[in-house]
Amino acid sequence: MRIFDTHCHLDDAKFDEDREDAYRRMREARVTRCVCVGSDLDSSRRCMALAETHPGVYAAAGVHPHEAKDAPPDYLDRLTEMLAHPRVKALGEIGLDYYYDLSPRDVQMRVMGEQVDLAVKLGKPVIFHIRDAHGDMVDFFRSRKQLPEGIIHCFSGSPEIAREYVKMGFYISFAGPLTFKKAPHLQAAAREVPLDRLLVETDSPYLAPEPMRGRRNEPANVQYTLRKLAELREIPEEDMAEITWNNACVLYGIPLEQPGENLA
Ligand code: NI
Repeated sequence: MRIFDTHCHLDDAKFDEDREDAYRRMREARVTRCVCVGSDLDSSRRCMALAETHPGVYAAAGVHPHEAKDAPPDYLDRLTEMLAHPRVKALGEIGLDYYYDLSPRDVQMRVMGEQVDLAVKLGKPVIFHIRDAHGDMVDFFRSRKQLPEGIIHCFSGSPEIAREYVKMGFYISFAGPLTFKKAPHLQAAAREVPLDRLLVETDSPYLAPEPMRGRRNEPANVQYTLRKLAELREIPEEDMAEITWNNACVLYGIPLEQPGENLA
């Protein structure tokens, strides 16, 4: 079995004490690949550096809605440079967050729109962070002539919203909350997303799944979310691992097999 954690933040300071151990535990848990996702230019650079030095780790570069207000004037040029790096597989994470509203909403919308344009121009997939903003997001997508490929990361909506995003061609990625006892809507959504659109992730260090809930999360824990997803779909865990692995590789444009990446 091999598992793909499509979204983590191994560059986060919460891993400063034990980053190499977390990487080792990830590999021991058969999580053979992960994408380390940036949230501003600095963290994107850190993710890129981790991807250069750790087999199985890839990177994404982008400006998160929380950081949109601090994006420097030349941020699109800097992102363009990073996206040319062979280990940087996606633009992200970007999007709208109306729960925290850490950047003004018009700024969030502008910075997201500019990055979506860049992704379309470069032919790169996009990782979308959407919190309490599904209405505006769907309107935004409908207003565009051309949409990039991409992931609705840490999906948190209803089955209806999931259906809407799938219709637009997006992948739906489930994180730790899928395993929580009180998540009927999320679990209902996970039961009906087409198999070829399903992904799993940790979003670590955040959102640890059961039975690790409340602790710092790490990529190894994606196995629990995968197990839950397999259970909901009544599919053997190994098959669900392979399905989500293939989906992630296709979307991120990574060959299914890569010499030197296999576990000892
Ligand atoms: Ni994230």
